[in-house]
Amino acid sequence: MKIAFGCDHAGFDMKEFLRDELKSEGFSVEDFGTHYPTPADYPDYAEKVALSVAAGNADFGVLICGTGLGMSISANKIDGIRAALCLTPEYAKLARQHNNANVLCLGGRFLERKQAYKILKTFLETAFDGDISKGARHKRRVDKIMALEKL
Ligand code: RB5
Repeated sequence: MKIAFGCDHAGFDMKEFLRDELKSEGFSVEDFGTHYPTPADYPDYAEKVALSVAAGNADFGVLICGTGLGMSISANKIDGIRAALCLTPEYAKLARQHNNANVLCLGGRFLERKQAYKILKTFLETAFDGDISKGARHKRRVDKIMALEKL
């Protein structure tokens, strides 16, 4: 599984930590920056990661800014992206099960490393509940989200 990472200065430390954790577990990671803790504009990194995921070059994206808000707003402008700001592992589980989120957004200024890691692992380990046995309601709703791109 390949994971694309991006952050601004406020998410820099968290990005370095999470990227290295995943790498040490054998995940393939691509780091789109920022590579420095100096001020950086979050939309620039959201764009790079979102385009990589949308093109199928990464399975999932992880975007970290101070709150995770700017990253999620930016990434969701790219067609094919369902970016979810997750505050707890339960949010991450539901973002995958119900929304088929493909980009995880985190708030580097509001999360402990351990909690962020738990959120990330939950996100990566949870599948979308898109099958017919569940009434396919989640698939229908996600299809409706994607149809909004065509308006
Ligand atoms: C940077 O100060 C901050 O605005 C940014 O990291 C993010 O939280 C924006 O949504």
